[in-house]
Formats: sequence, C-alpha cells, structure tokens
Amino acid sequence: MPWIQLRISADEDTAEKYSDWLMASGSQAVTFIDAKDTPIYEPLPGDEVIYWQNTVVMGLYDASHDMDKVIAYLQSIHPDKKAMRFKLEQLEDKDWEREWMDNFHPMKFGERLWICPSWRDVPDPTAVNVMLDPGLAFGTGTHPTTALCLTWLDSLNLTGKTVVDFGCGSGILSLAALKLGAERVIGIDIDPQALQASKANAERNGVEDRLSLYLPADQPSIQADVVVANILAGPLRELAPVIMQFVGEKGLLALSGVLENQAQELQILYGQWCEMDNIAVQEEWVRLSGTRK
Ligand SMILES: C[S@@+](CC[C@H](N)C(=O)[O-])C[C@H]1O[C@@H](n2cnc3c(N)ncnc32)[C@H](O)[C@@H]1O
Repeated sequence: MPWIQLRISADEDTAEKYSDWLMASGSQAVTFIDAKDTPIYEPLPGDEVIYWQNTVVMGLYDASHDMDKVIAYLQSIHPDKKAMRFKLEQLEDKDWEREWMDNFHPMKFGERLWICPSWRDVPDPTAVNVMLDPGLAFGTGTHPTTALCLTWLDSLNLTGKTVVDFGCGSGILSLAALKLGAERVIGIDIDPQALQASKANAERNGVEDRLSLYLPADQPSIQADVVVANILAGPLRELAPVIMQFVGEKGLLALSGVLENQAQELQILYGQWCEMDNIAVQEEWVRLSGTRK
C-alpha cells in the first residue's frame, strides 16, 4: 500500500503534543527523528523520554487519507498556524522490512571478530563469528561505543578469562568475549528486557551455559580478569566504586558510552585505581581503558 508522510518541525517542548495531534488526525504511526544528528541513548524503563531540541515529528497516513483535512485540522489547533512548518511526501510502496534487512550487513571488529545478522552468509567461517539480529535491547555493533568495546575485546587474549559485561544490553559484548575464548561472562543490566535479549542471543550462539545474567540488585561479588562497561558518563561516574569492585588484581577495564568532552574527568577518576591507556575515539565517542594498579 502506498503511504503519505507528514513531517512537522518541533522542539523538545512541542514534540509530544504534535505526536498526539498526528495520531488524532488519523496517522497510523508516529516517529520522531533528530533534525541535527545529536545522539541520545534509548531511555531506561520508567525514565522520562528526552526529545531533541530540533525534532522532526513524522506521521504516516495511507494514501487515500484526505491530507487537506489533516492540514486544516492541525492549523486550527496550532497556536501560530503561520509558524507551523510541515512537509508532505509520497512514499514509494516498498517492502520496508526487506529494505531494512538489505542494509544490515556483517561487520568486522579488530582482527578476528565478526557480528553477522542471521539472514546473511557468514563472510569468513574461520573467523570468530557472533550471530546477532537487531532486537529490543541496545547493541548491534553499529553504534560507535559498541564498536569501540568490540575492537578492544578482540585485541585481548581472553582464553580462560572471567569477564564482567556491565550494562550488557543485547549481550553483544558478552557473546563476543565468550566466542573469543572467555571461560565465563557475567552480564549485568538494569533492564529485565536486556537480560532476556542477552539470554536469547546466547542460546542462538550456543554459549548460554557460560553466561550468567543479573539485575544490579542480585549481582554477585566477584573479581574478574576483564570488565567492560558501555553505559553513560553519568552512571560511570556514580558507579565507579561498584564497577571497580569487579576488577580483579591486574584486571583490565574498558569504559564507553562517553563523549569526547566527558573523557578527561573519567580518565582522572578511574586513574585513582588503574594505569590508564590512551583514549580511543570513534566519531564523537570515546573508550577509556586501563589496568588495575
Ligand atoms: C549503551 S547500552 C550498551 C549495550 C551493550 N553492552 C553494547 O555495548 O552495545 C547500555 C546498557 O546499560 C544498561 N544500564 C544503564 N544503566 C545501568 C546501570 N546503572 N546498571 C546496569 N545496567 C545499566 C542499559 O539498560 C543498557 O542496556
């Protein structure tokens, strides 16, 4: 079925209100996109949704919908109808799922590690291949913070090591560590849905017997050889003592989810406990790493 897409420019104060208007005018789906490419992480369950300062609110209508009526309705409720900026677009009738799948390819990280969607051929069957399809939890390898952690894990000799994946999301880093030779991984996440996704992904990769998953309230007290935490700068600051409790003697630590301008403060904070390496940068994101002194 062909579709018509209506785009309205909004900001963080008006985005939700415009979304309600689009739904009330018969839109079948509403999407928010960032007009300025400012990254925001997915909110945690129960957290307030954060909108971008320059948000585009998009409503999708079937092509037979009377869009003149929609525009007239929106202008009738907009406080300043002359200032209402909108655009109508006709969308080609495509197989959207197919199109999206066509754009998701196997990705290589470091020397040995590949993340492969299940509907693609594995490019190198002799490599370390993690089979992972995008799902509800964060972590497919496309985000620079995940990529920075995957490359770091690939650079280590993980054979026989115990690893803690703090903020495991889809389990992508846990699976990578296990496939790279880790003996055991402890995955921790505040979001129960992430733990479910990690479990399902571990089963798909045949490594579920070596992955233990916990909510923070139940997390075990263990000392790991390697700890990786891809959360955000705020929690990395607040939880520094908790995260450091997992890092065993001479243990290795990597932190991501940190923007370039937040790196220095965390480098100093974790420098209390670790000999810190040079910061690695990808796009505007960084990875900090170090070895417990
Ligand atoms: C950016 S995602 C990272 C997912 C995956 N590890 C990756 O590298 O792609 C951050 C994850 O940390 C979890 N998280 C955020 N704050 C947390 C906290 N205080 N304790 C445990 N997990 C947390 C989120 O639920 C989310 O799944």
